[in-house]
Amino acid sequence: MLTARAAERARALDELPAYVYDLTALDAHARAVRAALPPRVELYYAAKANPAPELLAALAPHVTGFEVSSGGELTHVRGVAPGRPLAFGGPGKTEAELGLALAAGVERFHVESEHELRLLAAEAAARGTAADVLLRVNLPLGAAELGGAALAMGGRPSPFGLDPDHVGDCLPLLTGDGPLRLRGIHAHLASGLDAAAQLAVAARIADWTRDAEARYGLDLPEVCVGGGMAVDYGRPAERFDWAAYGDGLRALAARHPGRTFRIEPGRALTAYCGWYVTDVLDIKHSHGEPFAVLRGGTHHLRTPAAKAHSHPFTVLPRETWSRPWPRPGVRDTPVTLVGQLCTPKDVLATRAPVPELRAGDRVAFALAGAYAWNISHHDFLMHPPPSFHYLN
Ligand SMILES: Cc1ncc(COP(=O)(O)O)c(C=O)c1O
Repeated sequence: MLTARAAERARALDELPAYVYDLTALDAHARAVRAALPPRVELYYAAKANPAPELLAALAPHVTGFEVSSGGELTHVRGVAPGRPLAFGGPGKTEAELGLALAAGVERFHVESEHELRLLAAEAAARGTAADVLLRVNLPLGAAELGGAALAMGGRPSPFGLDPDHVGDCLPLLTGDGPLRLRGIHAHLASGLDAAAQLAVAARIADWTRDAEARYGLDLPEVCVGGGMAVDYGRPAERFDWAAYGDGLRALAARHPGRTFRIEPGRALTAYCGWYVTDVLDIKHSHGEPFAVLRGGTHHLRTPAAKAHSHPFTVLPRETWSRPWPRPGVRDTPVTLVGQLCTPKDVLATRAPVPELRAGDRVAFALAGAYAWNISHHDFLMHPPPSFHYLN
């Protein structure tokens, strides 16, 4: 779980809490993901998972481009990875953001609604520029496809994308002499799907695209089937089956000759390269149950609170104890790991089995490379921020 390099740094850190990222591990992982995919499948990284410049730079050699979902992400990623293709997605794009994206020459716009399409057309016409569009469609999914989803963005009422029946209404804005060019269809319908479920969803999107071509007499050369590849926080040694997914996409692409396929994972690319490292301040018992109070908490690592899970961790024992009283600790007892916030929601792991945990021991939370620091409410209670360490 913990790479040797990350463990060594976690033990040596002078100040805690800290985020430690193993960029060599990220490079190897991204290389393997790219190698598992057929050449016809373009790999975009969803920057929202973790936009740290060091991670973007490590990913850049392995990805076709980046998916950004705000003007802020767009400016940031353009600055860190100039010249790399960007796809601009996300709901509620403002006129200012669309203008920024047009001025930046963003390669693809993932349009979420008819109104947004009109805004984009007006902005593009005003600037005398063209824009390449993928319509985001919220396709219905069957129970089998949605079965294992951790988070469903589509396949049911949601703020994301267009209803399939509404696509026809948008076409007059996309055909003829206007500034918008319809390049294809985008869908990101769920997250936390295993390879078989992802392939079923991808097939659904691709088949719907082919039907739409026939129904509307269109050419839709591109289909983006989104991200959402599962990261299993309960079984942190497990990995999304990229080999099976790549094989399935190869077969799917063969059934859709001439079409470019694109995926845009975030979590399953960067989750594994990061650890949140901290130490145990206190161990106490409350009504018979042991609690370990850690330095830091969910204001640094919101993932367990956001996903309502026990976050996986490794204990790094430290033998030094200089106080003249007994060292607080537990042995062979499930213990709840909490942070320093004054809320019962500041829980990182609940009743986690540990052989031993003592005040002063260190703890490294795994799978903290994605949707971790950047989704956390940093300022609550004004504790100091963690330090950040990027290991090459
Ligand atoms: C449109 C879109 N694409 C890609 C992603 C990345 O998803 P994940 O990080 O689960 O792979 C998201 C996440 O919310 C998204 O909204």
